[in-house]
Amino acid sequence: MTDKKSSNVVWHQAVIDRRLREQQNGHKSVILWFTGLSGAGKSTLAHAVEERLHATNCRTFVLDGDNVRHGLCGDLGFSDADRQENIRRIGEVAKLFLEAGIISLTAFISPFRADRERVRSLVLHGDFIEVYCKCTLELCEQRDVKGLYKKARAGQIPVFTGISSPYEEPLNPELVVDTSTTLEQCVEQVMECLRQRGIL
Ligand code: ADX
Repeated sequence: MTDKKSSNVVWHQAVIDRRLREQQNGHKSVILWFTGLSGAGKSTLAHAVEERLHATNCRTFVLDGDNVRHGLCGDLGFSDADRQENIRRIGEVAKLFLEAGIISLTAFISPFRADRERVRSLVLHGDFIEVYCKCTLELCEQRDVKGLYKKARAGQIPVFTGISSPYEEPLNPELVVDTSTTLEQCVEQVMECLRQRGIL
């Protein structure tokens, strides 16, 4: 966690604010925070939900762990401290997207409860929807889409989530999706959640 080092900075209040942008977009903005083990389907689900939203003219953006680690978070590894900083940065970026009137969908393992709760506390109640992509380690490992579990078991990747680094399950997520069911079922669950909360 970085301490604020910049002094003599004054907040500029913009005339064009979140509400005006939301009005223009025709929907509310929100952060859909997908969390779960590697291989649980966070990214697949986030992109599939984005496609559905895009088809109905919603403004969206997916922030994906593997992609963001090629740029903004390319200087971070997988130690607890680096994962914490990764999630802090993404939380701040997602908060900016919220102000921009956009529905952001974040797909990060985000293994630590405290880090996810810190992001939740950055925004108003209702602006952060935690979606737990629930899937057993056994199934994630069986899928092993990227071949990383095999490498982790062989000791080639240190501190791999679920194997040699913890994943703390959400205690009170807004939504739990069982990603061992079909993608279509999971997408529908997320869409229903957005409708129920008056986002769409
Ligand atoms: S997080 O823990 O900081 O939230 P993040 O979601 O950004 O992780 O990145 C996870 C992705 O990085 C995984 O899906 C996997 O492809 C890759 N990865 C590489 N090394 C590790 C590791 N040690 N633990 C977990 N994921 C890893």
